[in-house]
Amino acid sequence: MVQGVQVIKDGSETAASYANVSVVIMAAGKGTRMKSALPKVLHRLAGRALLGHVVGTAAQLEPDRLVVVTGHGAMEIEAALARWISTIATFDSKTSLQCVRQEPQLGTGHAVQQAVPALPDDGVTLILNGDVPLIATPTLQTLLAACGGTQLALLTVTMADPTGYGRIVRNGEAVQAIVEHKDATAQQREIREIYTGVMAVPNAQLKPWLARLRNDNAQKEFYLTDIVKFAVADGVAVVATQTTDTVQVDGVNSPVQLAQLERAHQLRQAHALMEQGVRLADPARFDLRADARGYASGQPGRLVCAQDVEIDLGCIFEGQVSLGEGVRIGAHCVVANAQIEAGAVIHPYSHIDGEALGVVVGPGAIVGPFARLRPGAQLGADVHIGNFVEVKNSTLAPGAKANHLTYLGDATVGERVNIGAGTITANYDGANKHRTVIEADVHIGSNSVLVAPVTIGAGGTVGASSAVTKSTPPGALTVVRGKQVSIEGWKRPVKKA
Ligand code: UD1
Ligand code: MG
Repeated sequence: MVQGVQVIKDGSETAASYANVSVVIMAAGKGTRMKSALPKVLHRLAGRALLGHVVGTAAQLEPDRLVVVTGHGAMEIEAALARWISTIATFDSKTSLQCVRQEPQLGTGHAVQQAVPALPDDGVTLILNGDVPLIATPTLQTLLAACGGTQLALLTVTMADPTGYGRIVRNGEAVQAIVEHKDATAQQREIREIYTGVMAVPNAQLKPWLARLRNDNAQKEFYLTDIVKFAVADGVAVVATQTTDTVQVDGVNSPVQLAQLERAHQLRQAHALMEQGVRLADPARFDLRADARGYASGQPGRLVCAQDVEIDLGCIFEGQVSLGEGVRIGAHCVVANAQIEAGAVIHPYSHIDGEALGVVVGPGAIVGPFARLRPGAQLGADVHIGNFVEVKNSTLAPGAKANHLTYLGDATVGERVNIGAGTITANYDGANKHRTVIEADVHIGSNSVLVAPVTIGAGGTVGASSAVTKSTPPGALTVVRGKQVSIEGWKRPVKKA
């Protein structure tokens, strides 16, 4: 089998094929600065766990094996990993997953030592950090190409403030060592080229180098970065691949860093959409995230937009959302797992969440402001849903309208039905849910309660404030309320002296 990498130049892209690649992700650290009970690598960026991003990126390389080093929160992390990889087709068929425990955590070199039994004696190992979520596949492909199966390839970046990082010490061009900040001399601390925490190493060298690590340093840790010195001593070429994209190599150690990286990532997603023609009122106030199910499965959020979509500021999209041609989303809407068809308008402050069932907003429909569409809401063409209207598991046929203060749950609403303000479908009897059927061309008067199961016959009218408990015939006016009585000459009581 060919070891390492074959690189084929393909325009600006680098297409590469690899053989016998292992990926080790270090995820044993505590993440003390997060000040959280949740293990750091399970914190969310764009709705996905930090480690979920890294696993997804690693999977795109289709390595032979993925080894995740766990320690703090190992049980929780391993359970999450099992869920994520079950949704990635290449796992099992191309890539095997193994978790190894590192307890206690004695440094990055010690972390990779734990992975050694899971690694073959040949091929290449790519080492990644579980808390560096936005590393991108092409960067890793470039690094593997630089390694070429025989060299030690380091991903480096030049930072304005390199404090805390391992410095790349060069002699002329040649890399001599990585010196950790705490071990660096004042002169070495001036170096602004730092090690990002990502490297590609031939296994034939990695294993003996790891065995030689010592912890005689400022932190009394086994530094993975010490293998650079061994490479130089052994005459193995060390190549530093520089990236200028700091977002890809930024780690998350604190809530502030997490928020900063989230904004950087969201801005990139916003720009990608604008490049497709989507008009965002403010790319800095746009979010696209995985939903809760995406968090569990490791899948990212996806927003697919047709031509001439406009999104006002402060909108959040979650899970899988599609917006048809000419759709307009007003300010401060949350839209999750929904299909909004061509020409529909969602006015400000609407909350749409399809969860597993999805929501469909038909062509030309108008929703909001302040509307709530819940799982299974299916609005046909030109439906109007107005302010403070909640729709759940209900189908509204074309032209139906519920413009104010209404709850439609488990309802089937016919074409051109008009539902008056304050109408409630009472779908729950305390034990079971029942359906309300409102046939075509019905008018429901304001403040009515339709107690399910019940059918309002086609073309019928329900008088305002009716509590309807029995099905009504087509075309009829149904009124269920006390008769209006006026008593002439009635005198109000007067206060006794
Ligand atoms: C490491 C590098 C440093 C580099 C920096 C980039 C070493 C010795 N130093 O430093 O050169 O500039 O990353 O961010 O490698 N981890 C374990 N087990 C451990 C220790 C760490 O799994 O025993 C994991 C952490 O969870 C984390 C990663 O390894 O995901 C990096 O560890 P961290 O402590 O952040 O290393 P740095 O000191 O930042
Ligand atoms: Mg770190």
